[in-house]
Amino acid sequence: MSRDNPYIGPRAFRVTEKLPNREREAKELTNLVMAERVVLLHATSGAGKTSLIQTSVTQRLTDEGLKPTRALRVECPRPPGVDFRNRYVYSLTLDLLGSEGLRPEDLAKMRLSEALAKANDMRGYRVLIIDQLEEILTLDPADLDTKTDFFRQLGEAIEACSMWALLAVRDDYLGSLDHYLRLLPGRPRVTYRLDLLGRQEALAAIRNPASERAVEFTDDAANMLVDKLAGGGCVEPVQLQVVCRRVWRDWDHSQPVIGVRSVENVDIDTALGKYYSRSLDDLVEELEVDERVVRDWFEQSLITDTGYRTQTLRGPEVGELEREVLQQLERMYLIRSDLRAGSRWYELAHDRLVGAVLENNRAWQLHHLASWQVAAYEWNRKDRDPSFLLPKNKLAYVPLTSKALLEHELDFLRKSYEDAGEKWRAKFTATAFRVVFPLALVELVVIVVLVVLR
Ligand SMILES: Nc1ncnc2c1ncn2[C@@H]1O[C@H](COP(=O)(O)OP(=O)(O)OP(=O)(O)O)[C@@H](O)[C@H]1O
Ligand SMILES: [Mg+2]
Repeated sequence: MSRDNPYIGPRAFRVTEKLPNREREAKELTNLVMAERVVLLHATSGAGKTSLIQTSVTQRLTDEGLKPTRALRVECPRPPGVDFRNRYVYSLTLDLLGSEGLRPEDLAKMRLSEALAKANDMRGYRVLIIDQLEEILTLDPADLDTKTDFFRQLGEAIEACSMWALLAVRDDYLGSLDHYLRLLPGRPRVTYRLDLLGRQEALAAIRNPASERAVEFTDDAANMLVDKLAGGGCVEPVQLQVVCRRVWRDWDHSQPVIGVRSVENVDIDTALGKYYSRSLDDLVEELEVDERVVRDWFEQSLITDTGYRTQTLRGPEVGELEREVLQQLERMYLIRSDLRAGSRWYELAHDRLVGAVLENNRAWQLHHLASWQVAAYEWNRKDRDPSFLLPKNKLAYVPLTSKALLEHELDFLRKSYEDAGEKWRAKFTATAFRVVFPLALVELVVIVVLVVLR
């Protein structure tokens, strides 16, 4: 029996994998699709929409004789130089027919109804699934006519091919999509909301994968872990996956079961902190951005001084890579974005990440920064409180290079020198008054006396 880690971590379940729970939701959603023709599945980011669609819902629809397409996206990458009429239609067409040996120029000319009819002929699809439909709002917010045309074509294609449709979207985009969804056949909005994991679902997500490796995750241990993860409420599936992967890795594989002893010392903040840290490693490797800038952005722009989550309109200062960094961080479930009044706001994906980020940033700083840089950081964060400035004797040890220093560090050094200079001047003046001035006075008196006596 394989002892590979059975917990998949922060990615969606694939078509070939088995969801350890949510049979009820899969059944309800499948029935709703069959009854209503067009259904909108919505949930917060990372709740498990893609996972549910790709596993049990696909399976159930297939069992009902309603073969679904795979989860299509309106943001499918397109070959350069192709002149298409509607990028969203073209994206679905590529997803549906891209591997059928047709020429990109021909695909680009198709209306969605033609593409769907052709795909159905070849594959016998009955249900059209589109995942992450919110991308239609985010890719090019200004192309309103293209969006309207897309939804008209979608409605026409569903009617013409007598299809069912399941559309998945993040909660926060539901309102903005409303206007377009009215262009679809049937009732304008039949929705199904997927919640985060309840206790029983979380327990199954913890125990079942282990048991597939013939390892018992004991009831007590699983309950203890759920208590730690839930903090009184629901469990975020992303966090569950991150923590369980870690528990499996750290578990003494010579033990027959994963018991309370393997779980009691698990610290969720530390596990999430390590996930944060590893994700940043990947980000830095892939996009070659300055890790310190990204870490500082997390702490300064997404967390208040008093340790609460806060929102920001700006990403880390990494120049033209800003958008890409933000997208990656969202994909890693470290941040979440929200479109309000035409602006995109960013925040930590979960309250739980506050402690994880702060703790992990501290550890990283101690490892990677000189002690004066840590002081500079605190100085900057605490409204440039002068009590953090370096005294003169410590300034002597700061290397005289401005290479790779951040702006606040240069400011910090400048201020420290100024402060040290002021203190020195103040000390000098005080000494002058205390010692030099009285001595000079004595000298003056002696001179006057000598002159008078002469
Ligand atoms: N039923 C489940 N039980 C346990 N873990 C799950 C479950 N569903 C999803 N997950 C885990 O939750 C995370 C997010 O899953 P998924 O990508 O399916 O969510 P999503 O709602 O599609 O997110 P997004 O809004 O980013 O598209 C992944 O780490 C996945 O492994
Ligand atoms: Mg998804």
